[in-house]
Formats: sequence, C-alpha cells, structure tokens
Amino acid sequence: MAKVLVVGGGGREQALAWKLVQSSSVTTVYVAPGNGGSAGSVKNVSIGFTDTEALVAFAKDNSIDLCVIGQETASEAGVVDAFRENGLAVFGPTKQSVRIETSKVFSKDMMASERIPTATYKHFTDPRAARTYANSRSLPVVIKADGLATGKGVIIAENTQAVDEAIDTIMVKQAFGSAGNIVIVEDFLKGQELSMHALSDGTVSVVFPPSQDHKQIFAGDRGPNTGGMGAYAPLDWVSNKVLGEIKETVIEPALSGLKKRGSTFVGCLYPGLMLDGSDVKVLEFNARFGDPEAQVYMRLLEGDLYEILLACVHGRLDPNLVSWRSGYGVCVVLASAGYPGEYQKGLLIDGIAEAEALDKDIVVFHAGTKRNENGQLVTAGGRVLNVTAIGSTLEQALRKAYKAVQLIHFEGMQYREDIGQRPN
Ligand code: AMP
Ligand code: GLY
Repeated sequence: MAKVLVVGGGGREQALAWKLVQSSSVTTVYVAPGNGGSAGSVKNVSIGFTDTEALVAFAKDNSIDLCVIGQETASEAGVVDAFRENGLAVFGPTKQSVRIETSKVFSKDMMASERIPTATYKHFTDPRAARTYANSRSLPVVIKADGLATGKGVIIAENTQAVDEAIDTIMVKQAFGSAGNIVIVEDFLKGQELSMHALSDGTVSVVFPPSQDHKQIFAGDRGPNTGGMGAYAPLDWVSNKVLGEIKETVIEPALSGLKKRGSTFVGCLYPGLMLDGSDVKVLEFNARFGDPEAQVYMRLLEGDLYEILLACVHGRLDPNLVSWRSGYGVCVVLASAGYPGEYQKGLLIDGIAEAEALDKDIVVFHAGTKRNENGQLVTAGGRVLNVTAIGSTLEQALRKAYKAVQLIHFEGMQYREDIGQRPN
C-alpha cells in the first residue's frame, strides 16, 4: 500500500490529497506543510515547500512512494531534481523545465521560436529602452516582471504615466526584487481568459476539459487581481474545434519545445489563454495545477489520481486512465476581508460541517486555515476556504455551492457572487 507526499499548503494541495487518498492503492497522504483541513488519512508534515533536504529526508525515512509537487516554488527550489537524484518518484517539473513558468523571458522566447501564438513583445534590462518601446505601442500596454512575483508582477498600463510608473515599480524600485531585473513589454490582448491543463509523462500528454478562473477580487471582474476567486469547468462556450487548435498549436509545441531544449516536462502544464472569437493566444504558461482550477478538476476526475500521476513519473501515461464525470464542477473561494491587500488572521471559522451536510455533492477544501492553540479552526491566509459542488448542470452546481456558502461564517468573509457567469 502506498504513501504519498504532497508539497504545498493551499486549497489545491488539499484537493489533490482528497483525491489521492481515495485511490485503493493509497493508505496515507502527507501534506507539507498542509493546513487546517488535513484530517484522518491526510496528515500535515511541518516542512516548508522549498526545504529540499528536509523533504527528501522525510520521503526516505517514511518510504514515500510518490511525491506530488503542488507549488511551483518547490520546483524552482530544486525539490524535483533532489528527489530524482535520490531515486525517489516525484511528479512535477525539474528546475530546468519549470522555467516555462518561472522565467517569462524563457517562456516568451520559446513561444516565439516554436510559433506558439502569443502577444507581440520585447524584453529589456534597461528601463529607458523599455519605456521607449512601451510608448511606441498602442495603449494599453502590458508590463511584466520576468520572474515569479506571486501573480502581482503584471501591470496593465492605460497611459504614458502608468507606463512610467510600472517600469519604475518593477525595474527601479524593484518591488518584486530580482524578478524585475528584466521586464517584458507586450501588447494588450482582449477577450475571454480560460485555463487549460495537460498532464505529461515527457512523451504522451492528456488534455483536461477547459476551465475558467475569476482573477479579480470583485464581481464583474473589478478590482485588483488575486490568486483566483473561483472556477468552473467545463466551458460550454469553447468549441471542440478551438480545443483541438489549443492542443495542436499550444500544448504539443510547448512540450516538444521543452524537450528540444533538454527540459523534458513531466507534470501538469497549465497555459493561461486569451480567446477572442476563435483567436487563441497564450498569456502565460504555468508548470503546475491551477488554484482554484485543481479543486474543480478533482471533483470531476473519475480515474485514480495516484495511478495517473505515477504513470506520468514512469513514462507510461495512458489516456484511458483519465476520465471525467458528466456535468459541471464549481469552486467559490471565501477570502479574508482586505485580501488581496492586508488582512487579519486568527478569526474563528464555523459552519463547514453544516455546509457539507447539505448535500453529498458539496465538498469544502481548506486553503488559508489552521488550528489555533485551543484546537479551534481559524483563518490563516487570504484565500481561506474553497466551497466546491458538482451538478448535472452548471446552474445546479452553482446553486449548491452558494447555498453551502450561506452556512459558513468568519468575520469579514468576502466572495464573488458571479462565479460561473461568463462576463460579457
Ligand atoms: P500572467 O501572469 O502573465 O498570466 O498575467 C496575469 C494576468 O494579467 C492574466 O491572467 C491576465 O488577466 C492579465 N494579462 C497578462 N498579459 C496580458 C495581456 N497581454 N493582455 C491582457 N491581459 C493580460
Ligand atoms: N488560477 C490561477 C493560478 O493558479 O495561477
């Protein structure tokens, strides 16, 4: 019987653990560092997700059969490389192949040379040259820090003054540290954003149904960007023709492009796309499951996640392992007051058991939660809980999720009321 270690501490990792522990081959799932949602056969291990040595030691000491990387910073820190060097099975990209997410310059340059459709761009190390180029493009223009900046390193500049401020913030003031040593200036794309996910064993890939996240904090896509306020899948408004095109012009060339560069990709490739009519362009590549997309996918996946991920690691991914229940899945994120800015922690949470008791189709995943010294469940992050539901129609899934949301409480709780409603 197998033991699995999941690396990360958010709702995504709880959803992965929830699904992994359902496998008839799995006895225990450890989550490092996990959160207040771990219970029963899902156990927290207090190791940070970039503490490579401690993670390897834990895996060896506890005879872990598979390690699953949730968080890209773990891959960037070399956790996958270290596991491989120690002969341990690990699902996730190496330091080399995670660059498709962690370096926007690497990613955009690869897209250009593999002819993957994306916004026209240039990159700069000199703020003056960046400013001159940005001002030569039609506005708005998008300014991005090269490296990881927790989703905040992308600024859409509507006018010349905003261009100056964006370049100043990223390059001169180094608001995102060394992530801003290089900036990308790219054309603004309009349309509908969608998320695609594909599992890869390095040769074979399996593409998931499309999903959509809702990135802004307020309904109607207003306010600042967040990690993601809710998601749903599949998307009725994306045709099979467009899906085929995404596979052919985005996913396959990205995987073969990485292979060509000596960075064979084993893991979950998640391109964020902009769809304008039937015109598809890549906004970015991520090298992991989306959060909160994973929470929805785990509700819809019918195959055995442990067997699927192990097959990826051993280079024997079979598309027949992956199947999906019919109907729809949704996730509504419950966030702390003030998020994505400053927020208070340690607030008591109640109503989760009541919400889940409403209907077997409702599952609440924990994100930023923990147990306090009295054993009470309290808030510990910006995105606190993920209320998921499945239904035979999207409307039914949403009705269940929002009914569950009404029963959950913590002070200042905020959420979007328009998850699953395609903005116009
Ligand atoms: P990224 O980290 O590159 O995906 O950017 C974060 C968010 O910024 C995306 O999810 C989009 O909402 C927005 N964004 C990024 N690039 C562009 C672009 N070229 N045009 C319009 N919006 C963009
Ligand atoms: N859903 C946004 C992200 O995972 O980056």
